[in-house]
Amino acid sequence: VQEWTEVGTLTEALRDRYVLVRGRAQAIRAVGKNMAFLVVREKGFTVQCVVTAQPDSVSRQMVKYAAGLSRESIVDIEGVVSVPTVPIKGASQQVEVQVRKIFCVNKAMPTLPINIEDAARSETEIEKALQAGEQLVRVNQDTRLNYRVLDMRTPANQGIFRIQCQVGNVFRQFLLSEDFVEIHTPKLIAGSSEGGASVFKLDYKGQPACLAQSPQLHKQMAICGDFGRVFEIGPVFRAEDSYTHRHLCEFTGLDVEMEIKKHYFEVMDIVDHLFVTMFDTLNKNCAKELEAVGRQYPFEPLKYLRSTLRLTFEEGIQMLKEAGVEVDPLGDLNTEAERKLGQLVLEKYGTEFYILHRYPLAVRPFYTMPCFDNPTYSNSFDVFIRGEEIISGAQRVHVPEFLVERAQACGIDVKTISTYIDSFRYGAPPHGGFGVGLERVVMLFCGLNNIRKTSLFPRDPLRIAP
Ligand code: 4AD
Repeated sequence: VQEWTEVGTLTEALRDRYVLVRGRAQAIRAVGKNMAFLVVREKGFTVQCVVTAQPDSVSRQMVKYAAGLSRESIVDIEGVVSVPTVPIKGASQQVEVQVRKIFCVNKAMPTLPINIEDAARSETEIEKALQAGEQLVRVNQDTRLNYRVLDMRTPANQGIFRIQCQVGNVFRQFLLSEDFVEIHTPKLIAGSSEGGASVFKLDYKGQPACLAQSPQLHKQMAICGDFGRVFEIGPVFRAEDSYTHRHLCEFTGLDVEMEIKKHYFEVMDIVDHLFVTMFDTLNKNCAKELEAVGRQYPFEPLKYLRSTLRLTFEEGIQMLKEAGVEVDPLGDLNTEAERKLGQLVLEKYGTEFYILHRYPLAVRPFYTMPCFDNPTYSNSFDVFIRGEEIISGAQRVHVPEFLVERAQACGIDVKTISTYIDSFRYGAPPHGGFGVGLERVVMLFCGLNNIRKTSLFPRDPLRIAP
């Protein structure tokens, strides 16, 4: 049995060696009747394979067969590695395979709805190609998402989802090393967990129920159950009527909840160490993926400090005011104000990653602990990358009577969350936590302009397929 060689490992060191590779026929070009070129792709690497008719080994029929393969078909190629004298354009590997045998493992349909090479071009490359009179189709976002399986094959998308994998991995490894326990909470729940209208209602065997808007209530109940420190990576459902670049109806929530001794700053310390570790790890371990993303969607590396900047909401409002932006000092910041503050913070402190804390109580969910010195504000925080929110967190109310009061004040039907509130009647420690949107972290770390780019199969108000 001959061994397989991966396309990515085909280098000059293998000159004259007979190799067997499997990949996709990314591009196929015939030159007369005696020659055909195939660009074969495997795991994002590409190699040029040359089929030349030769009296004793390669027939003209084989050249014809190669030239007639459909793009994206899976092929096995056997041949000899050679090193051309001129650099190879259009393939990642700087060697060629002189083909002896070709076997089509499984063919793709003759014309595909997306041409991968077109889908992989940057805006600048598209402009250049159009100016040069090249015929190409600009692949728009809806088409990409309709044919996501094809769109996924571009180097940038390969990079994005490998980076996403690393974000989840660092999140898990870091928290495990800090003595957190991974939990799994139900996604079918009786009442809404975040309040508001953005909840998918459903019928649960005759009882009203909904899809969890977050693991909020159950992760807190795990703290009441003595786990001390917990985290979860799981789906979160929001029936948002938001048609924005950063809202999905289903996303992956990275959630944390922990006992605190004195201060919600203990939760912010975890955020700080976790994210600095995450950014360092991404820059170190995903250099190739980040480069692939940047080649199609150019971006500047994220600027962040070794110790994450913390500003109070009031300080943020003041900075905005000094820059001539008037906002309600007890309201939430809108997207524009958040962006503006992000710019101001970058100019003043040189970071695109920071924590804004002590938000007005009125704009936070019912379970948020008011500030002890001034209940107009709360022991809560949001975290921003490049002027956009990726995390919200807080200390929680752990006294049941007060929790009921807060829920009622926020218009929540206490009956629907009675088991949650009862959990605090059996004795509950002070605690806090936060929730992160996975897709937003990847979008903003990579400076991408739309969250649909970082969700493998995005769900938004207009899309539930594929
Ligand atoms: O701000 P949110 O709604 O907070 C909670 O769910 C709390 N239970 C978290 C906590 O522990 N206090 O959501 C948390 C994060 C946001 O910062 C954002 O990154 C992301 O989840 N997020 C969304 N991502 C994509 N689409 C949406 N519709 C999102 N809504 C929130």
